[in-house]
Amino acid sequence: MTVRAIVLAAGKGTRMKCDLPKVLHTVAGRPIINWVVGAIQGAGISDITVVIPPDSDAVAAALPAGVRSVVQQDRGGTGHATKIALEAIGDVAKDQVLVIAGDTPLFTVETIAALVAAHRGGTTVLITRVPDPTGYGRIVRNRAGDITAIVEERDADAATRASDEVAMSTYVFDGAALARALPRLRRDNAKKEEYLTDAVGILAPVAGFEVEDHRQTLGINSHDQLAAADALMRERINEAWMVAGVWMQDPYATYLDATVALSPGVRLYPGVHLEGATSVAAGAVVGPQVFAIDSSIGTGARVWYSVLRGAEVGEQVDVGPFASLRPGTVLHRGSKAGTFVEIKASTVGPGSKVPHLAYIGDASIGEDSNIGAGTITCNFDGFRKQRTVIGDHVFIGSDTMLVAPVEIGDGAFTGAGSAITRDVSPGSLAVERSQQREVPGYAARRGRADDPEGE
Ligand code: UD1
Ligand code: CA
Repeated sequence: MTVRAIVLAAGKGTRMKCDLPKVLHTVAGRPIINWVVGAIQGAGISDITVVIPPDSDAVAAALPAGVRSVVQQDRGGTGHATKIALEAIGDVAKDQVLVIAGDTPLFTVETIAALVAAHRGGTTVLITRVPDPTGYGRIVRNRAGDITAIVEERDADAATRASDEVAMSTYVFDGAALARALPRLRRDNAKKEEYLTDAVGILAPVAGFEVEDHRQTLGINSHDQLAAADALMRERINEAWMVAGVWMQDPYATYLDATVALSPGVRLYPGVHLEGATSVAAGAVVGPQVFAIDSSIGTGARVWYSVLRGAEVGEQVDVGPFASLRPGTVLHRGSKAGTFVEIKASTVGPGSKVPHLAYIGDASIGEDSNIGAGTITCNFDGFRKQRTVIGDHVFIGSDTMLVAPVEIGDGAFTGAGSAITRDVSPGSLAVERSQQREVPGYAARRGRADDPEGE
């Protein structure tokens, strides 16, 4: 039997108080809707229809290829949204239909698969027990214990409200039953909407599928729930990495996007944020306090107290403390970007060092060169960016200004404090500074300001 999925994601997300569509907020770096769709796909269901709000091209764009999206023009409730999805899908009389809310990112593949496997025909409602049922639809049972209805909190009497057994907007229906119930939904409730929960009353008695871990069912309506979901997801991600052989001194202070790739033997100190397509190879030690996005950190590298954006850090490279590596930075094997060093769109060759207080932009540095403290590539001439090329075994003296475009040949030296405006040939020393003058006996001749006698 074919299982088709409908994801309800057209709600306004009013409680987020934010222009971004609710389901595009991210949990561990991945949009909420993609977690939901990913769990459904992981459970082996490929026919997926997502109901999205009007003017939400961004939501449609975030969906993986092959997932259908359909716009719900007027927000008429969860039942209305399901109707619109069914119109787009067509005849489901012979199918099973999984309906799930687009704002529940924590469901695991296993739970979705188990729910579908537990469905024995008719209707199966996913239920759970929560410490605080505020805001959730309550499960109503008859004397025999059968589920006869879901009542929204706003519409519930005191006895029903007191129940902690709740529905989480997740169901499996026989297609024929769903198609029969939807036209019978009425808007005679507090919100004047067509509630999908009412389909349960229409089709009752229905089966319940209980999820023990209620945290999986957390729906996101507000920023505090978003933060709670993010924390739970990160906990899961960190647990999986620790099982895979990653050391974390404090998993609660380690922030890894779902998109990050780590090797066994990586060591992470607290305050590490790894985002986007970041990878860390075996034996690398990262943190404390590193923010890295879309960057790679090679085998045995050491990175601490630093920010990396679109940077490639090679094997055995040393970064920080307090380095800023901007897009296009490539640090080859055994090189170094030390304290208060900023590098952008530049290559640092194997074994070369930029140990302290430097700005390297639009440059290429060869092998085993040393860049003295305070060195700056003056890469912007006021109109465009210019390149600096530094060869192998070069010694750049402290506080050198390299006024680009400029090339320093292999084995060349620059004297401390020089403003280098012309190319330096291999093996030469370039010094550009005025001669030091000395005035002997100056202090005695002048006297000291605080001592008119000159003693
Ligand atoms: C809904 C359920 C409630 C359940 C709770 C679990 C109903 C009437 N209530 O309440 O029983 O305990 O979820 O999280 O179903 N949506 C649309 N179109 C609409 C309205 C909503 O697509 O017209 C989508 C929303 O984007 C959301 C989902 O349906 O993803 C649930 O809607 P929401 O407004 O969050 O419902 P709750 O009040 O949380
Ligand atoms: Ca909700």
